[in-house]
Parts: sequence; structure tokens; C-alpha cells
Amino acid sequence: MTLKIIIRNVLTITALCSIAIVSLVNAEDTDKALLKRAQALFSPLPDTLRVDDYPFSDARVELGKALFFETRVSTDGRMSCAACHNPSYHGGDSLALSVGLNGKKLPRNAPTVFNTPLLISQHYGGNRLTVEEQAMKALLSPLAYGNKNYAEAEAKLKTLGYAKKFDEAFPNESDPVSAENWATAIGAFERTLLTPAPFDRYLKGDQRAISKEAKIGLDKFMSVGCAGCHSGVVVGGQSFQKFGLTEDYWLATGSKEQELLKGRDKGKFHDTQKPEDMFIFKVPQLRNVAMTPPYFHDGSVAKLDDAVRVMARLQLGKQLSDDDVNHIVAFLQTLTGEVPANFAKAPVLPVSPYNN
Ligand code: HEC
Ligand code: HEC
Repeated sequence: MTLKIIIRNVLTITALCSIAIVSLVNAEDTDKALLKRAQALFSPLPDTLRVDDYPFSDARVELGKALFFETRVSTDGRMSCAACHNPSYHGGDSLALSVGLNGKKLPRNAPTVFNTPLLISQHYGGNRLTVEEQAMKALLSPLAYGNKNYAEAEAKLKTLGYAKKFDEAFPNESDPVSAENWATAIGAFERTLLTPAPFDRYLKGDQRAISKEAKIGLDKFMSVGCAGCHSGVVVGGQSFQKFGLTEDYWLATGSKEQELLKGRDKGKFHDTQKPEDMFIFKVPQLRNVAMTPPYFHDGSVAKLDDAVRVMARLQLGKQLSDDDVNHIVAFLQTLTGEVPANFAKAPVLPVSPYNN
């Protein structure tokens, strides 16, 4: 090799190395900038949700768990929270519309029960403020438990052998078996159902917690405008918005036949009767969304990529490319956490002292 060639090779190698170094540094800068933008819009789940308003104890959580799985308080003996919020389906039931008391269909799709204490309110119309209020009202819902009044439910709890568990969970109360305490205990259990996910590790600074595709998707999710409604700790759940801002949702997701069959869901309007609440729904959380098909309040869309397309069209007036959709789906998959261990394993329920 002549000296000239050697020098040329050394120069080429040096040039290539510096290009590689520059692009590495650039990629690192881009990664850092993306994380910073994400940290401004989203936050990781807290480790626990123990708040002063709802005092916690192990006995309360244990009672709440038993009640969550207890079917004998419903009038057909088959309904429990777990019937529609099931460990096998990431806290939902996998049906378009839930099946309730005596096989009757509910008007809406069951959202996951995970992380719900972090939502501004409960249900698509937001007509229950806290998870406790939600649990208490379910006792009287003609589609869930069907009790005529709280006394009927309380009497059942006493005959089912729950008195001792309520005593332990609510010490110093003279008559602890009450609908309020049913709700407080179930709420305490729900407050333990948090699902930390790879996205949380990413938000805390671990660049390797999510894939390159997911990062491209996260970038899209923010730049296209999804995060305008889906942001914060549960990636949504913080506001009410019209479903179908730029196009009619029913025409895009439902069929005429379905409309005739069920009528159209008017969202918050059902509760308030105010014209401005027509088709207004709570923005759902997107944590675990990849695990909880079908989508939307009526379960009308079966697949996540189609749900993303519908959102882009109806909420932002945009048509996304297949690549964009796939990247956004890859990002949404980083919001999947594990089913909490204390939920995955069904509890042993008390045996009624009257059944011996
Ligand atoms: C028959 C099925 C069924 C039963 C039983 C049931 N749920 Fe639900 N749950 C649903 C449906 C459907 C919704 C959505 C209702 C709506 O938005 O109007 C829902 C909504 C919720 C929400 C609000 C979630 C959100 O994102 O807004 C919570 C929390 C919840 N249920 C907890 C419970 C608890 C606790 C019990 C037991 C006390 C229970 N559910 C019993 C079907 C059921
Ligand atoms: C203007 C507010 C708004 C914007 C922007 C928005 N969404 Fe939504 N999103 C909603 C509302 C409201 C719903 C609930 C609709 C319903 O079921 O009634 C929803 C529902 C969803 C669902 C279904 C969740 C479930 O569990 O059924 C997904 C997935 C979703 N959005 C993803 C996205 C993506 C991806 C984007 C960006 C392309 C986006 N959203 C933009 C408000 C918005």
C-alpha cells in the first residue's frame, strides 16, 4: 500500500467515524427532547393512592376485594363487580356491551377498573364523582345488583357471613355492615389496582423502556393532537369532550340498523338534559387500552388501529397513514401494565352461617 492510499483510508475512516458520532449525538439529543416533551404532558403513576379522605387498612382492602367478587348480593345471584370487571380481561369484560342482571344488556361498554380513582369522575357521562359513589349506586342499579333499597343489600351481607369482616375493617363502629362501608371497602380495594407500565419507566428517564417504534408513535401522538385530550397521569380521564368534533360519530362507527335498534347514546345529555351536553363523553384513560377491546362507549370498533383512525378523523379531521397508525399503536402498547397480583387471584368468600 502506498502512503497515499493509507492516508486516504485513514481520512475516510475518520470521516465515517465522525459522521457516526454526530448522528449518535443527534439521536441522543432527539431522544432527550422527546422525553422532555412527554414529561411536560404525562406523568408516571404514583406508587400508592392512599389519600386522607379514604383511610386505608389491610382489613378494608381485603373486605373490598371479597365484596368485589361477591355475587350473592345481586338479586339474580350472578352479578358482581368482577362479572364485568374481570381479571382475565384486564379489568373489563371483552364484550361490546356488558351483560347485566337477568341477562339484560347494558347500554355501554365496560371500561377497565384499573387506575380509575385517578379519573376526574366515573362513567362515560361522569355522573358518579368517586369510585365509592360508583360502588354504592351499583347496589341499586336495576342492571347490576337490582336491590330495591340499601337495607335489602345490607340484610343480605349480614346473612352471608360478612359481619366479622366489616367489624375488622371498620372497628369502633356499632353497626358497620352498611352500604356506605361496602362502598368505602370496595373503593379501598380499587385504590390498590394501579398498573405501572413501560411508559412509566420511560417517563422516569429510562430511554430503553420503550421501543424506537413506540417513540415515533409517542411523537406522533403529541404532534398530531391526540394529547390535547389524552394527557396526564392516565393519558385521558381529565376532561369531557364531544365525540365526533369534525364528523358524526354514529355514521363513522355505527350502522343505521344499530341506530334503529338501540337509539343513539347522547352522552352527558342523558343526565343533565342540557343541549350543550349532547354527545359529550368523558375522555377515557388510555392505560391498558391495547388489552381492552372493543372500543368506545358502545364497543362499536373491534380493533385498536381502527379506533386510532376513527379518533384522528372524528376528533382532529385528519387521515393518518398506516405507518402513523402502527406507530401510535406501538406507543399505546407501552401503556399496558400487569394485572395487579391481588386482583388476579380470586378471594375465598365467607360461608354463610345460615347455610350449614
Ligand atoms: C353488569 C356489568 C357491570 C357490573 C356488575 C359492574 N359494572 Fe362497573 N361498569 C360497567 C359499565 C358498562 C360501565 C360504564 C358505564 C357508563 O359509562 O355509563 C362501568 C363503569 C365502571 C367504572 C367507571 C370506569 C370509568 O372509566 O369511568 C367503575 C370504577 C366501575 N364500573 C366499577 C364497578 C364496581 C366497583 C362494581 C361492583 C360494585 C361494578 N363496576 C359493577 C359494567 C358493570
Ligand atoms: C377532542 C378530544 C380528543 C382528541 C383530540 C382525541 N381523542 Fe381519543 N377519545 C376522546 C373521547 C371523548 C373518547 C371517548 C369516545 C366515546 O367512546 O364516546 C375517546 C376515545 C379514544 C379511544 C378509545 C378508548 C376506549 O377504551 O374505548 C382511543 C383508543 C383513543 N381515543 C385514542 C386517540 C388517539 C390515538 C387520538 C389521536 C389520533 C385521539 N384519541 C384524539 C377524545 C379525544
